[in-house]
Amino acid sequence: MQFFLDSALVDEIAHALEMWNIDGVTTNPRHVAMSGKSFLTTIREIARLVEGSDKAVSVEVNPHHDRAAAMAAEGEKLAAISPNFVIKLPATEAGFRAITLLADRGIRSNLTLVFSAGQALQAMRMGAYFVSPFLGWKESNAEETVSMIEDIVAIRDNYGFDTQVLAAALRNGRQIVDAAVAGADITTAGFAVYKDLFDHPYTHVGLARFAESWDKTAYE
Ligand code: E4P
Repeated sequence: MQFFLDSALVDEIAHALEMWNIDGVTTNPRHVAMSGKSFLTTIREIARLVEGSDKAVSVEVNPHHDRAAAMAAEGEKLAAISPNFVIKLPATEAGFRAITLLADRGIRSNLTLVFSAGQALQAMRMGAYFVSPFLGWKESNAEETVSMIEDIVAIRDNYGFDTQVLAAALRNGRQIVDAAVAGADITTAGFAVYKDLFDHPYTHVGLARFAESWDKTAYE
């Protein structure tokens, strides 16, 4: 099970790499806009943080592209910046086709904005490296969310596709656990969501209790 951080903020990513040993990074145009820097500056800074490692960084092509050739051309340009980059393509007909154009050039893709197992199946058929079902954007209940991940994992395993299932847009620690139970290979979520996952109020209560006892006890 791998954890990716969903962010384009260099400070957050550096913290998560050092303190949480995150396995990769996912960015999208919303995250890059939040960085306040240009797209290329932002992704180059992130590339430097993971340089020399095998940690994947997903970078998204211009969402205005509506032709596979244009997506693939930009994807090729971005992939030349860093061997860590995986090119994010939308789950549209052109996006699916761009997977194969990039794969022919040895470039990995991450199919984003996936909201159904059917879209994930097509992404896997076309050779996607990652497929990213979005969980937090759907107004679905927890069972539907879990069953979509289970379906995608089952389809992948039924046919032996190489694609990794990346549960995306998770909004709280519980959803990360649900995605793990359902068999996702990777989760991606924001900084605050992982904080929520790693923390529990009882840990702090217990620590305060133990500290109190510690202070009443001689060390030697
Ligand atoms: C994942 O790859 C997506 O970028 C992401 O989960 C979407 O998250 P957002 O809703 O925080 O933009």
